[in-house]
Amino acid sequence: TVLILDYGSQYTHLITRRIRSLNVFSLVISGTSSLKSITSYNPRVVILSGGPHSVHALDAPSFPDGFIEWAESNGVHVLGICYGLQLIVQKLGGVVVEGESKEYGKMEIEVKGKSEIFGTESAGDKQMVWMSHGDEAVKLPEGFEVVAQSAQGAVAALENRKKRIYGLQYHPEVTHSPKGMETLRHFLFDVCGVSADWKMEDLMEEEIKVINKTVASDEHVICALSGGVDSTVAATLVHRAIGDRLHCIFVDNGLLRYKEQERVMDTFERDLHLPVTCVDASEQFLSQLKGVVDPETKRKIIGREFINIFDQFAKELEKKHGKKPAFLVQGTLYPDVIESCPPPGTDRTHSHTIKSHHNVGGLPKDMKLKLIEPLKLLFKDEVRELGRILNVPVGFLKRHPFPGPGLAVRVLGDVTQGNALEVLRQVDEIFIQSIRDAGLYDSIWQAFAVFLPVRSVGVQGDKRTHSHVVALRAVTSQDGMTADWFNFEHKFLDDVSRKICNSVQGVNRVVQDITSKPPSTIEWE
Ligand code: XMP
Repeated sequence: TVLILDYGSQYTHLITRRIRSLNVFSLVISGTSSLKSITSYNPRVVILSGGPHSVHALDAPSFPDGFIEWAESNGVHVLGICYGLQLIVQKLGGVVVEGESKEYGKMEIEVKGKSEIFGTESAGDKQMVWMSHGDEAVKLPEGFEVVAQSAQGAVAALENRKKRIYGLQYHPEVTHSPKGMETLRHFLFDVCGVSADWKMEDLMEEEIKVINKTVASDEHVICALSGGVDSTVAATLVHRAIGDRLHCIFVDNGLLRYKEQERVMDTFERDLHLPVTCVDASEQFLSQLKGVVDPETKRKIIGREFINIFDQFAKELEKKHGKKPAFLVQGTLYPDVIESCPPPGTDRTHSHTIKSHHNVGGLPKDMKLKLIEPLKLLFKDEVRELGRILNVPVGFLKRHPFPGPGLAVRVLGDVTQGNALEVLRQVDEIFIQSIRDAGLYDSIWQAFAVFLPVRSVGVQGDKRTHSHVVALRAVTSQDGMTADWFNFEHKFLDDVSRKICNSVQGVNRVVQDITSKPPSTIEWE
C-alpha cells in the first residue's frame, strides 16, 4: 500500500488515482492521523500531500511524533509534496520562510547532480512543472540535499537517500507537470521497489470474499436501486457473492424520465439477472405531491414516501423468509468517506449537509440494518471499471447522473400541474437523443430539460398559441460540486428547438440555461 497523508490539497485525491492507475494500491487518510493508525496500514511508501496551510501557522497540521523514526527503522520511503516537503524540512530542523516571490503556475526546474528521485541519468535535465506555494525551504535539515531548483533559484526537490526521505515542491500528479507521472512511476517502482500488482479483478474477488464472510448463510440483504451506476454496480457485486439472498427494489415514483422504468428493468433483469421487485408507486407519490410548490417540501415528501415503501418491502421479505433482512447495500463511494484535513476556513460538516439532501430515501430509524458498502474504496471511474468487469453494459455505466427526487426538481412548482410531467418527458427525450446523435453525450456531465410554470404567446400554423416554455440545461463538471454550462453549436440548438416545438404539443418556446454552478445549482430546484 502507498499511504497518503492528506493535508488538504485539492489534488490529494488525484495523487491516489494516479498511483492506482499504475496498478499500485493507494489510500488516503488524514494527515494528522496517529502513528498507530498509520502503521496499521503497513505501508511501503508514505506520501505527505500538499495543502493550503503555512507550516508556521499555529494550527498547521502535521504527522505524529515518531513517524520519521518509524519510517526509517522499517525501511518505509517518505515523499513530501509541496506542503509535505515543507513539513519535512521544518520538522527535521531546516528552515522554511515566506517566499519573497510566490511561485504559482507553470515553472521550469532543473535537476541538479545525481538524484535518486529523478534517476541518476537526469542531471541537468530541465522540465516544466506546476507550482503552487507561498513558503519556501531555505535551509535544509542535516543529511538532505537539493536535487532540483526552480528558475528563480528556489528548492524544487530534495532528498536524503540514507533516510529514504524525498520531497517535491511542485505537483507531479497534475497534467501541467508533463513529466510528473514519469517521476512518480520511477519513484515508486525503481526507488521504492513497489510492484504493480493491484488489479480491479483482485479487488472484486476480495470484496466478494468479505461479503460472503460478513453475511451468514441464512441472512438476507436488501438494496434500493436508483437506476444509477453506483447502486447498480454495488448490487451486482453483492449478487455475485450471495446470489438471491439479495433482494433489490426499484421504485417508480412517477417522476422518472421517458421509458426509464422499462429501460432500467431491462438492464437489471436481462443483462444482470438481478432479483428486483419493481414497485409502481406513481399514484402514491403524485397524490402526496399534489398542490405542493415549495422545493424543500417536495423533496421531503418524496423522501418520506420512499421510506414507507422501503419499510413495506422489508416487512414483506420478513414474512416470506421468517427473518428480518439484516443488511442494506449502499453505493457509497470513496470521496464520501475519505477523512481529510479541511483547508483553513472551510467547514467540512457544512459541505456534508449540502450533500445529505441528495441521499433521497434515508431509512426508517427502527430498521437497524447493517450496511454493506462494497464501493467505499473506489472513485467513480473505478466503479465504472468494476462495472465493466461485472458485465454491466457500457452504455449504462456512462449514464448521466439523475437526482433522487427525479423530475420533481425539474418541473418548477406543482409537479401535477396539467400535463407537465408528460411534456417534460418528451422534451427531455428529444434533447438527450439529439445529444447522443451529435456524439456529445459522453462530453457532458449532465443534460436535461426543465418545465417552467409559465406560458408565453406564440404563433404556430398561423394560429396564436399560449403555451409552455421549457428550458434546456447541459453542464460539464468533475464531481457535480461546481459546473460550467455546455456551449452547443448554434445549429445544434436551432435543430433541437425546432424539433421540440414541432413535435411536443403545448410547447411554443425553448430557452437555454447559460449559468454555471455557482451561482446556480445544476438542478433548478
Ligand atoms: P445541484 O442541483 O445541487 O446538484 O447542483 C448536484 C448534483 O447532484 C444531483 N442531485 C441529486 N442527486 N438526490 C440525488 O441523488 C438529490 O436529491 C439530488 N439533488 C441534486 C444533481 O442531479 C447533480 O448531479
